[in-house]
Amino acid sequence: MPLVHQEKLESLENLVKQLKSKPKGKLHIAVIEAMTTNETSFFKDIHPFETLKKEIIPDLIEKRKDKKELNIWCGASSSGQECYSLVMILKNEFPALETWKISFSASDISNQMLNRCRSGIYSQLEINRGLPAPLMVKYFNRLGTEWQVKDELRKMIQFRITNLSEKWPFMPPLDLIMMRNVLIYFDVDMKKDILGRVRKLLKPDGYLFLGAAETTLNLDENFERMPYKQSGCYRLKKG
Ligand SMILES: C[S@@+](CC[C@H](N)C(=O)[O-])C[C@H]1O[C@@H](n2cnc3c(N)ncnc32)[C@H](O)[C@@H]1O
Repeated sequence: MPLVHQEKLESLENLVKQLKSKPKGKLHIAVIEAMTTNETSFFKDIHPFETLKKEIIPDLIEKRKDKKELNIWCGASSSGQECYSLVMILKNEFPALETWKISFSASDISNQMLNRCRSGIYSQLEINRGLPAPLMVKYFNRLGTEWQVKDELRKMIQFRITNLSEKWPFMPPLDLIMMRNVLIYFDVDMKKDILGRVRKLLKPDGYLFLGAAETTLNLDENFERMPYKQSGCYRLKKG
């Protein structure tokens, strides 16, 4: 409704009419920005990040030790706390990765969110939600009343706009895909379509992380859930 008033359209019906009659443009983008839920925080739900630290990253390091290359994608990055949490784990816990080629891309449908990701600037309130103090001290610079992720971390991630329900940009075969708390917004057919595309992108021994309320069950039987506590971690079944 705020958008209806802002655009002087009088009713939601008029807004929908405009959306249907016009080619995709500013109004469509404004609707996307108004409708998306961007709730996120550093190390949200903690268990997935514990699993990444204790199980998944050590496993991938062992498997890729010859090539020394990791390809990671965060498919609904929101304001960036999720991908920066993962980058902090990589930097802080696995110094050996310093010499590796890490390709880390993160995407979202919302341009406003991607701009926030790129800036890496967070309020004290956002910092207080889940970021351990030692990591704040190590990886953030104070910026007035806010905090900014240090350049060394920001430059590790390439951010780009991607609507998961449309065509995805080219990506190399991936070792790790984070797609947490976004499948919930799609209908069953689109969930199946997205998981099918994830399956093709993921290396046969790669890992997928979904949100706590999400599953591949009854959507794509090619995935199996890993037995790590509340991690939402999946891999492809063998063969
Ligand atoms: C609830 S947040 C989840 C953020 C993060 N993954 C986490 O779990 O903390 C959902 C994000 O999905 C994005 N989103 C919604 N629909 C999308 C779509 N069709 N394609 C890509 N991103 C989408 C929203 O813009 C929002 O940033």
